[in-house]
Amino acid sequence: WIPPTLALLLGYLLGSIPFGVLLTRWGGAGDLRSVGSGNIGATNVLRTGRKGLAAATLLLDLAKGAAAVLIAEAMWPGTAPLAAAGAFFGHCYPVWLRFRGGKGVATLMGIALALHWPVGLVYAVVWIALLAAIRVSSVAGMTAAVSAPVAAAFFDRFDIVLLLIGLALVVLWKHRENIERLFAGTEPRIGRKRG
Ligand code: G3P
Repeated sequence: WIPPTLALLLGYLLGSIPFGVLLTRWGGAGDLRSVGSGNIGATNVLRTGRKGLAAATLLLDLAKGAAAVLIAEAMWPGTAPLAAAGAFFGHCYPVWLRFRGGKGVATLMGIALALHWPVGLVYAVVWIALLAAIRVSSVAGMTAAVSAPVAAAFFDRFDIVLLLIGLALVVLWKHRENIERLFAGTEPRIGRKRG
């Protein structure tokens, strides 16, 4: 039971690093949680007007998910799914922020890339294409998350389908306020002022 526990813990510790909050603070752009949606992800960092910080947040949130899976699997073979779950929950429910974390979209993409890169590639294509087409980050992110278990099944990776279904459901749950705004017609688009 020791390797699985270590993989879960390593994943959680890496996933719980709130890069959006840290980079925004270090970059002198204030407290991210009092900006826009209050979320700690790259989309909300973009609302501070700091594109470089937003890009760095996206890459680092993605990288911590991928790193957790790759490191755990190299150290304790067979523990990749546990490290993936740990990293995802670390990002969404970090103890350092009293469990009020992000919505999981970038971290899940890193996890998908590390678990089975074609699944991550499908995820990236769905996400980027939708973002370019409709410019609503939440819709692009939720759709990409839901595409992950579908892509895993398509690539015969049935061993990770259930995990990805579970994580996609958490992504949807974390977007419940976005979903309410979408129905109310008030969800902001990327590149425009909120309102
Ligand atoms: O990844 C988060 C994104 O899907 C939504 O972010 O700040 O618009 O709630 P936000």
